[in-house]
Amino acid sequence: MIIVLFLQTFFKFPLSMLDYFIRMYFHAKMGVPAVKELVILMVFLVFFLEGTVWAQERISLPQPKTVGEMSVEEAIFRRRSVRAFRDEALTLSELSQVLFAAQGVTEKTRGFRTAPSAGALYPLGLYAVVGKVEGIAPGVYRYYPEEHAIERVIEGDKRMELFRSALYQESIQEAPLVLVFTAIYERTTRRYGERGIRYVHMEVGHAAQNVYLEAQALRLATVAIGAFRDEEVARILQLPQNEMPLYLMPVGKPKSGR
Ligand SMILES: Cc1cc2nc3c(=O)[nH]c(=O)nc-3n(C[C@H](O)[C@H](O)[C@H](O)COP(=O)(O)O)c2cc1C
Repeated sequence: MIIVLFLQTFFKFPLSMLDYFIRMYFHAKMGVPAVKELVILMVFLVFFLEGTVWAQERISLPQPKTVGEMSVEEAIFRRRSVRAFRDEALTLSELSQVLFAAQGVTEKTRGFRTAPSAGALYPLGLYAVVGKVEGIAPGVYRYYPEEHAIERVIEGDKRMELFRSALYQESIQEAPLVLVFTAIYERTTRRYGERGIRYVHMEVGHAAQNVYLEAQALRLATVAIGAFRDEEVARILQLPQNEMPLYLMPVGKPKSGR
């Protein structure tokens, strides 16, 4: 009650609710069973709601590097599709760097990105299916290029489900991280009609090549995977109806050194 009075006096706190809970708590202590159950329910609700808020929190990624140790010529020369990965976590800065290479914003005023886009309409979406990344809980995260941040959309390791949806390709199960490119076609077809479909497919190719080259430059590896069941991937990632998965790219440390 002292707390209630303190908050009321100094913060003009809307206390009818708080007061109500405190009264209920004392009722519960006195052993009125229905009220006790209600208090337990409220406590669960508070935890549940807080959990939801945390789950939706944006995680800012480390500033991406713009200078690296391998030249673009060397990365192009060395690049290879790799399907076997070591069972080792990626660092947060490696995650940051590959996401940036794929779709990062390189010109803030106009929002231009690392990969070209017809009419700068940016129809691609990018998700990180995290299995093992230092400091990041397993889950599905959406990438927000403007903020260079990720936000968890689904909790838990989804690699096994993704592996099944991609016709049991083991690279997906093995890699600590799987990138999933998606597209909202209407963003481009609204302006370019049918031709927009072709543009979207070209764009995902540009972005995927960036991931290949960045992975190579970081001494990581990847493979572009187009063989998977669309509806299953869409279900696993809980994609909206108008968003289609286009490419899966497992990323990790190659089993045999490259
Ligand atoms: C559109 C497309 C779809 C692909 N789908 C798969 C796939 O489902 N699984 C896979 O292991 N590799 C896939 N690849 C990778 C190719 O197999 C690979 O690029 C090819 O064997 C040449 O090897 P390289 O990339 O090392 O030069 C795909 C590549 C492209 C361009």
